Amino acid sequence: MTKATVVGAGNVGSNTARRIAEKDVADEVVMIDIVEGLPQGLALDLNQSAPVEGFEATVVGTNDYADTASSDVVVITAGLARKPGMSRMDLLEKNAEIVSGVTEQIAKHSPDAVLVVVSNPLDEMTYLTSLVSGFPKERVMGMAGVLDSSRLRFFIAERLSVPPTSIEAMTLGSHGDQMVALPRHATAGGRPVPELIDDDGLARLFARTRDAGAEIVGYLKKGSAFYAPSSAAAAMVNAILKDTGEVFPTCVWTTGEYGISDVYLGLPARLGLSGVVEIVELELNDDESNQLNEAAEAIRAKCKELEAHRPS
Ligand code: NAI
Ligand code: 2OP
Repeated sequence: MTKATVVGAGNVGSNTARRIAEKDVADEVVMIDIVEGLPQGLALDLNQSAPVEGFEATVVGTNDYADTASSDVVVITAGLARKPGMSRMDLLEKNAEIVSGVTEQIAKHSPDAVLVVVSNPLDEMTYLTSLVSGFPKERVMGMAGVLDSSRLRFFIAERLSVPPTSIEAMTLGSHGDQMVALPRHATAGGRPVPELIDDDGLARLFARTRDAGAEIVGYLKKGSAFYAPSSAAAAMVNAILKDTGEVFPTCVWTTGEYGISDVYLGLPARLGLSGVVEIVELELNDDESNQLNEAAEAIRAKCKELEAHRPS
């Protein structure tokens, strides 16, 4: 029996649980939140959709970590979301407190789980989760690259008027201003995208991708994106639980790959039952490599700050 827990039953958490259940990615999906009644109500509602949707997974809603015990995968979405005018970094202090508390509980009840962090600021919260859990680094990763790449793929598809699934593209680096686009590696129906869109056009699409989260916050006003983020998180859970070996841009711990060490950073990673199975090294040119290094150093600096003010 496979068990996935989603911590935080807000917009991203409840939709992640829903996608995991609807695709029968896990046999049991547990949703846990501090708000009493919220995960229970959502779980009941989701279970009642099973006959129509045709899934067999069972969804449990709870406020008690005992119900999350022995999870195979835990997705951490607990925390505050952005409001208009806020950057992801503005969430650092409050979310650090929330994510620390959640991670302590998860590590205690599911010591063998693979952890997928979603809470923002993503790269720093992934590092914090790794510190607090004490888990081997390959069992702690962050979700951002699948979302950012999916956004870029959609924008390229829209520009070329082709199906989004015909586009392959990847973003690396940070989930923020130091996001690194790899237009040279992007393809549309197998053709290199730079042959189809000029440099200025590509730069515009990438800028929109980098700012896509803020664009949605600007429309929603009360919160941030959740449909695409939950798709991305559920896809990673699927790769882990089904041991697919798919390569996803993932926030992973570096040990010399791309010449970078000892920092969590968005890189292509093969995912499987044990978590991060392998970091895949693409050939980067000097400019791409410099951008990746800048992203790594910016994350490293923030993580040092976070460590200095780490909630006890
Ligand atoms: P939301 O406000 O809808 O949900 C957050 C949930 O966390 C709430 O239900 C709240 O009660 C719960 N929560 C707060 N403290 C908790 C605790 N100590 N234990 C358990 N649950 C707790 O927010 P939303 O939209 O679901 O976003 C969640 C987080 O994910 C935010 O930090 C947001 O910035 C981040 N995010 C990250 C993305 C990424 O690409 N990495 C994409 C989208 C959102
Ligand atoms: C996003 O990019 C808020 O990080 C979240 O939509």
